[in-house]
Amino acid sequence: MEQTFTVKLEEKRYLPDPRCKATAWTPDYTRAYQEFMRDPEAFWDRIARELSWFESWDRVREWNPPYARWFVNAKLNITANCLDRHAAGSRKDKPAIVWRGEDGAERVITYDGLHHEVMRFANGLKSLGVGKGDRVCIYMPLVPEQIVAMLACARIGAVHSVVFGGFGPDALAMRINDAEAKVLVIADVGYRRGKTVPLRELASEALAHTPSVERVVVLRRETPAVELDPGTEVDYADLVARAAPDCPAEVMDSEDPLFILYTSGSTGAPKGIVHTCGGYMVGTYYTARHDFDIKETDILWCTADPGWITGHSYIVYGPLAVGTTVVIAEGTPDYPDPGAYWRLVQDLGVTIFYTAPTAIRMFMRYGDEWPAKYDLSTLRILGSVGEPLNPEAFEWYYRTIGGGRCPIVDTWWQTETGMHMITTMVGEPMKPGFAGKPIPGAVMDVVDRRGFPVPPGTGGFLVIREPWPAMLRTVHGNDERYRAYWKTIPGCYTAGDLAVKDEDGYIMVLGRADDLIVVAGHNIGTAEVESALVSHDAVAEAAVIGKPDPLKGHVIKAFVTLRVGVSPGDGLTDDLARHVRKSLGPVAVPAEIEFMDRLPKTRSGKIMRRVLKARELGMDPGDISTLEE
Ligand code: PRX
Repeated sequence: MEQTFTVKLEEKRYLPDPRCKATAWTPDYTRAYQEFMRDPEAFWDRIARELSWFESWDRVREWNPPYARWFVNAKLNITANCLDRHAAGSRKDKPAIVWRGEDGAERVITYDGLHHEVMRFANGLKSLGVGKGDRVCIYMPLVPEQIVAMLACARIGAVHSVVFGGFGPDALAMRINDAEAKVLVIADVGYRRGKTVPLRELASEALAHTPSVERVVVLRRETPAVELDPGTEVDYADLVARAAPDCPAEVMDSEDPLFILYTSGSTGAPKGIVHTCGGYMVGTYYTARHDFDIKETDILWCTADPGWITGHSYIVYGPLAVGTTVVIAEGTPDYPDPGAYWRLVQDLGVTIFYTAPTAIRMFMRYGDEWPAKYDLSTLRILGSVGEPLNPEAFEWYYRTIGGGRCPIVDTWWQTETGMHMITTMVGEPMKPGFAGKPIPGAVMDVVDRRGFPVPPGTGGFLVIREPWPAMLRTVHGNDERYRAYWKTIPGCYTAGDLAVKDEDGYIMVLGRADDLIVVAGHNIGTAEVESALVSHDAVAEAAVIGKPDPLKGHVIKAFVTLRVGVSPGDGLTDDLARHVRKSLGPVAVPAEIEFMDRLPKTRSGKIMRRVLKARELGMDPGDISTLEE
């Protein structure tokens, strides 16, 4: 980006019911933020003391840029907090996990039950020779055993690398090899849209190229049970049945690695992000509790898969550390019909619902009649993550799903940050299009290339100025790539996103810096134009790219999907162009608009503009292992 640029900020605010604020864990954002800034170490020290540790820390934080250590020399095990603490107390019989299969099958696992399942599987892993520091790859559908396997690794100090069950053999092999995993945990199949996904077959293709893997644990779901290869494969149920029931939690140093997770890679080759035990535990516990305002009776449904960071932090570690009930469901939002999610909210009495803009836009596309069929009155808090929540999608989510009653927490963060960094805390005024402000605990800014803050209304780079507990510690096997995050802008962690702040300090994310479009000298973030298009009644989703143009440098090309029942009839292109002109001005009007049935997305649901651009310009799209089928 050569120079900064101005962004038109249309401001609308929603004031939540004052009762939300009065009862929130963070009842006064401004005061909490000031308290944090006065003494960040005291702030984190206080939160960390709410959890149990084997040994306390010598120092809260040590910062030798770009390397940070948190809760220095403290000893802990994250599962002692997620399991033992609850199982030994009043949450013993409280449901920890409520699982729904696509066929309606249900399983409820209490904290006590989960504690025991995890200990047995942990002993099972030990019997296969897995020890502290060994890497275990988990390639499973969304079943409770996927979470059990993660926690069992953490229990014995093995480092898990979860690979989303929607990935194919090449992506799996690449991740296994990069982490040099010793054991692979899989299921024979997953179920999706009434069909079986042959995970074991896919894994066996990968295993032809993964010399590090010694044993494969297979969860068998199909009947009759598939026959296993006795040389390499072990039955999950057998392993657990043979294992001893008690497995004490391994004493981990605060800075020991907890897991490796590969980034979704909407802009480049996946990186193995490394997270460690102590800081990650504190960061996810605190943000889960405060940003979702979790109370004892809440039922939280985060619709992500544990194979993404969203699932790691806000299905597994954060909510379980808090001791809440989490819902998980194997299946897709629109199967068997577009009411599937709302039926589940009604049936299970979900109170906190956390999903992605891609899903919200999909629901909007199907229309209001689907949620209208169900009683959504248990919902209390609505969350969003993964992409900018377009103002239109915000309004729909707020009114149609939340009944104008539920605060929306649009959480900005990354695989790398491990925890939420920006949101509008429950009870604070909400502004559609803006994620919100840095949470108490995060020091963030919007800056120019040299690191100087840009004035409100001016676009710039989104950066983090101070280390935070759940920050990544390195990129597995490639520390150079870790250091690169801290090099682009002096003294800052560069998130790679463009953003703009308003007068009140609210931050709007404008898209990835790599996707920036420069038209006749004007910088244009993708999110603005896309949101303008999505605010047209006919449009469900939009993606824009820059196309080289001899006169203007670049022109905008838009790819658009339409709402159900709308066809790209006469004059729609002109109408869309007029609509964008009206909201953003002539410079942002797409020179070309193409209608599509669907947009290319990563398997985690992010639009891949890079793929559209490559196709348009006849270029190589680069690494596309994360692209949906
Ligand atoms: O571009 C931002 C976008 O997702 C990126 C991080 O992606 P990933 O590591 O896959 O993690 C996704 C789940 C945390 C960010 O750099 N992003 C994430 N949340 C938001 C967002 N963009 C706008 N608003 C958000 N709330």
